[in-house]
Amino acid sequence: MDAGEVLMKIENLSLHAGGKELQHDLNFEVKAGEVLAIVGASGCGKSTLLRHMIGLQTPQTGRVLWTADGKERDVHGDDPPRHEIGVAFQAGALWSSMTVGENMMLPLELYTELDEAERERQARFKLALAGLNDPATFDAEPAALSGGMRKRAAIARALMLDPPLLCLDEPSAGLDPLTSARLDDLIKRLKNDVGSAVVLVTHELESLFAVADRVLFLDVDAHTATALGPPAELRDHGPDAVREFLTRGQYQPHKEAA
Ligand SMILES: Nc1ncnc2c1ncn2[C@@H]1O[C@H](COP(=O)(O)OP(=O)(O)OP(=O)(O)O)[C@@H](O)[C@H]1O
Ligand SMILES: [Mg+2]
Repeated sequence: MDAGEVLMKIENLSLHAGGKELQHDLNFEVKAGEVLAIVGASGCGKSTLLRHMIGLQTPQTGRVLWTADGKERDVHGDDPPRHEIGVAFQAGALWSSMTVGENMMLPLELYTELDEAERERQARFKLALAGLNDPATFDAEPAALSGGMRKRAAIARALMLDPPLLCLDEPSAGLDPLTSARLDDLIKRLKNDVGSAVVLVTHELESLFAVADRVLFLDVDAHTATALGPPAELRDHGPDAVREFLTRGQYQPHKEAA
């Protein structure tokens, strides 16, 4: 997979919930190896957008296309990219009836021919990659892990099939700053060492500036995306609402000239 190759195209997508339009005319691409952050006020439709991108929710208007390897596959069509997209939701849900290791190995059991020894080897490798190096974690029950460890384990599981695209919904929400910074490092490592593209929903500005190559801003009032670009560029030159958001309200449009 070449860096910069377009993995996913979102075309004229609109998002609806409960009979209301959340967003319309969303048009953007996800490129191989980039970290794309999706931001916007609470309720603007970020999680809904993510669900459309992974094929969990079908668009009323528009399309989501998986475009890697020169082919166009509709994410909601007959041949959707099932193994190409890894997902870790906010709650970091693991199956509570299985150990952490069994959770990790499940995708390999379902979708590959690997034998048990190889499944275990790969599961331990991905846990270590996610910073869960303690071998005891493999045999632990998910309930025995801390919140931060569970989020890491959920990311490790999303990586089991080596997806070129990883979608993370608020991976650092509710974590202490140190754990949150370690997650940022993990995301950077995924990008640099594994070459995965990451689509990340986040409210944490620090994390956003640390990891995102580009930011997509969904405007809650305009009901569409009003900015897409590198975070520092949007903070300094973006539309008012975006500058406001990226400076946590410290941006004052009328005093800028002074
Ligand atoms: N199944 C549903 N039925 C009705 N309304 C829904 C449904 N799912 C989401 N919504 C509404 O759609 C809006 C967008 O939800 P969504 O979870 O995508 O927002 P978000 O940008 O992820 O917000 P947050 O930052 O709080 O996570 C919210 O107002 C929510 O109440
Ligand atoms: Mg959300």
